[in-house]
Amino acid sequence: MTTVLITGASRGMGAETVRRLATVGHTVFAAARHPDRLPDVPGQVHPLRLDVTDDASVARAAAEVEAVTGSLDVVVNNAGVPGTWAGPQDVGPQDVVDVFAVNVVGAVRVTHAFLPLLRRGHDPRLVLVSSGMGSLTLQQGDDVYRDIAHLPYPASKAALNMLAVQYAKALPDVLVTAVDPGLTATEFTGGVGHSVREGSDPIVAAVLDTDGPSGRFLGRDGVEPW
Ligand SMILES: NC(=O)c1ccc[n+]([C@@H]2O[C@H](COP(=O)([O-])OP(=O)(O)OC[C@H]3O[C@@H](n4cnc5c(N)ncnc54)[C@H](OP(=O)(O)O)[C@@H]3O)[C@@H](O)[C@H]2O)c1
Repeated sequence: MTTVLITGASRGMGAETVRRLATVGHTVFAAARHPDRLPDVPGQVHPLRLDVTDDASVARAAAEVEAVTGSLDVVVNNAGVPGTWAGPQDVGPQDVVDVFAVNVVGAVRVTHAFLPLLRRGHDPRLVLVSSGMGSLTLQQGDDVYRDIAHLPYPASKAALNMLAVQYAKALPDVLVTAVDPGLTATEFTGGVGHSVREGSDPIVAAVLDTDGPSGRFLGRDGVEPW
């Protein structure tokens, strides 16, 4: 059985991933800004208070995991925000800073803090929940994305993808996977898209995969282009 930390576990795909892993016997640290809002899930679920934008909160959460298990097999950076969908001409610098603070810097903060615990785990895996919107290839060629222009969110997920590539190179002992859930019906999309279970499929698959190779971008149908 695997010991997994998941950020953004209060709702959407984070909550669904916690539920799916815990109900089949994995140990899950469910990290949320407001742990009182975590869904009630049977199994080994440890609630953790964690805001990915806050150094002290992340350090406290890492100390708590250290005290409970002393190691982690998987870290899932799932917490994310969409930011504004205003046209690029109406987007200012703070709009971009706000989204990068969670989607990019938050993932680095969490990865940095939990890496020592991850390196003590079995078959350590780092999962970064990205998006097809972060794919430079799909943004230029895919029918869905080609004619839609947004700044903060796609740029943040492109940056997250690059973090995956760099972590994969730098951490040969860790299996690194960026994941694209596809358009999924959560609060994030106002309920548009496929089911939360379908969206969580590639996250759960990346959590449980120990073969790799490291440094891939995986969607529901397999490898996606960066
Ligand atoms: N839904 C889609 O179509 C879709 C497609 C591709 C990729 N994704 C990605 O999938 C991931 C999950 O999205 P979702 O659709 O499940 O979204 P969601 O239902 O809106 O959930 C987002 C989660 O992130 C948490 N979060 C936000 N800011 C945080 C912070 N500063 N610290 C800690 N947690 C924070 C939220 O916590 P609170 O409850 O405290 O706000 C919530 O648990 C995101 O990274 C998103 O970019 C989503």
